[in-house]
Amino acid sequence: MSRKNIVAGNWKMNKTLQEGVALAKDLKSALAGKTLNCEVIIGTPFIHLASVAAEIAGSKIALSAQNSANKESGAYTGEVSPAQVKSTGADFVILGHSERRAYYGETFDILKEKVLLALKNDLKPIFCIGELKEEREAGKQNEVVKAQLEGSVFNLSAEDFGKIVLAYEPVWAIGTGLTATSDQAQEIHAYIRSLVAAKYGAQVADDTTILYGGSCNAKNAKELFGKADVDGGLIGGASLKAEDFVGVIEGFN
Ligand code: 13P
Repeated sequence: MSRKNIVAGNWKMNKTLQEGVALAKDLKSALAGKTLNCEVIIGTPFIHLASVAAEIAGSKIALSAQNSANKESGAYTGEVSPAQVKSTGADFVILGHSERRAYYGETFDILKEKVLLALKNDLKPIFCIGELKEEREAGKQNEVVKAQLEGSVFNLSAEDFGKIVLAYEPVWAIGTGLTATSDQAQEIHAYIRSLVAAKYGAQVADDTTILYGGSCNAKNAKELFGKADVDGGLIGGASLKAEDFVGVIEGFN
C-alpha cells in the first residue's frame, strides 16, 4: 500500500445495530455526491459489521472491525477471529487501541500475534500507538511509541509492514477535548516515520500512512491534516454523527 490520506471512524462501544445501520446509511448518502480527497473507513462493533457491509456496498466507504483475536478458531468463548471479521466484508481491523491495552490487558506480545493473524487473513491492521499523559509530561513520548512499534510490528517483513496503517493517538487527547497541537502531532509523526525509515528504509517510510487520533473534529482537522506527516485521522466522538464525520473528511478539501 502506498501512502494514502485516510479518515477512519472508531465508533467504539456505541450504537445499537439499528442506529449503526442508520448512521452508515446517512454517511453513504452524505458522501455520494462529493469528490473525496481521502479514503473513508468506519470501524464498527462486531455486531454491526455484516449489516453495515451490506449497507455501504458500492459506496466509497470501507469497513473496519475494532479488534480481532490472536487465535485462529476454537474454544475461545466471546472472541472473534480475523477470518470471521473478514467474512463479514470488513477489510481493516483496529489493533492496539489504548483502551484495549489499558482495560483488556493487551500486551505487546498479544498484539504482535493479533497483527500477524490479521495479516494472514487479509485484514489490514490500523495499529494504534501513543503515550499517556504522565509519559508526555516526562518527555518520554518518543521512547514510548518506539517501544510499542518494536514490541508488536517491527517484527514484520517489509512487505507485511507495507500493508498496515499506523495511528498515533496520545492517550491524554482521547475523548478529552484536548487535542495535540498540529506542531506536536507533526513532530511525533515525523519521528515515527524516521523509525520506520531506520527499520525498513526510506521508501517504505514514505509509503506509510500515519493517522492522528485524539479529539480530532471538524474544527481542527484541516490544520492537523495540513501537516506533512499527518496523513489523516482516527476519529472517535466526531464519527458518531454523519454531519460531524463529513466535517472531518472535509478537512482534506
Ligand atoms: P476521540 O476522537 O473521541 O478523542 O477518540 C479518538 C480515538 O480513540 C479514536 O480511536
